[in-house]
Amino acid sequence: MELRDTFDRRIDYIRVSVTDRCNLRCVYCVPDGAPPRCLKPSPPLAAEKLIAFLKVAKRYGLRKVRLTGGEPLLRKDITRIVRAIKDIGVEDLGLTTNGQLLPLFARRLKRAGLDRVNISLDSLRPERYRRITGGGCLRNVYRAIESACGAGLAPVKVNVVLIRGINDDEIGEFAAIALERDWHIRFIELMPVRGKPMPAGRGFSSLDGMRVTADEAKKSICDAVGRLVPIGRSGSSDNYRFWAGGAGVIGFISPMSHHFCDSCNRLRITAAGKIRPCLFSDCELDLNAVSNENEMERLLLASVRGKAKGSLLKKAVPCEAMSLIGG
Ligand code: 5AD
Ligand code: SF4
Repeated sequence: MELRDTFDRRIDYIRVSVTDRCNLRCVYCVPDGAPPRCLKPSPPLAAEKLIAFLKVAKRYGLRKVRLTGGEPLLRKDITRIVRAIKDIGVEDLGLTTNGQLLPLFARRLKRAGLDRVNISLDSLRPERYRRITGGGCLRNVYRAIESACGAGLAPVKVNVVLIRGINDDEIGEFAAIALERDWHIRFIELMPVRGKPMPAGRGFSSLDGMRVTADEAKKSICDAVGRLVPIGRSGSSDNYRFWAGGAGVIGFISPMSHHFCDSCNRLRITAAGKIRPCLFSDCELDLNAVSNENEMERLLLASVRGKAKGSLLKKAVPCEAMSLIGG
């Protein structure tokens, strides 16, 4: 059995925010000076309920699950959650992390059945990285990448959110990594965040107008490093290799300039246990309100029916902080 929405898109991917807590405070995600907790901490969805819902979704052809946050590694039962999801028979199980704690977890997550990790890394300069993330340690991220490679969580995907005037001078350096290593370097367009006061204290006057589009990033890579050859899409990423070769992949994720609504295949579950058919819509269905399989099945089908075509995005309705709804 498979799930098709009213626009005939096959829905086989669920992104789950397992906690809204985070050990970093990235400038585009969390209001300046405020710990993420002050963004209305939500009691996390019980693991049992999440697993039960994913089991129902598996019967409807669920193929892929990604665990996000906040920082998913702050969730105490994360290894158990990973094992339980893999036991359902989900083919492709990934996790997005800021990497700070990954060296402690990489091997045991792999053993529990995790397939891959995406690691956020927005600067290769220690001081700048610290400033963007509100205190993160760059060396920990390098260790995280090493531990992921060592544990076989491959290919490692590195997510770089480009911010004009802050890290766009590093596009070439980031891209050049793909000449040397088999990592996927993915440039992500900055997305607006609702109700987000502008970060004042860290030298960022405003995030308005600071988006670097995928086309701009592509052009500066071609100019500074070398020609790119398209190799197709994977998920929401438009992928390339260098014409000159190299072990890695360069990806562009452009939710703002090139809407990928037509090929949207996902549902989201927020840290508070609300199902969100679309990142850019307020529509939410509450998983906490149901208890048995039949109700979960009805909720799943209603969420899929509730998926908007994508016109919402064209109005560029800003979304809440990613730490709440999970990137
Ligand atoms: N715009 C773009 N990407 C964002 N992320 C978090 N907030 C934003 C935003 N406002 C990214 C993180 C991470 C993933 C979970 O989402 O950098 O890579
Ligand atoms: Fe934490 Fe990710 Fe938000 Fe950064 S972007 S503060 S790592 S949840």
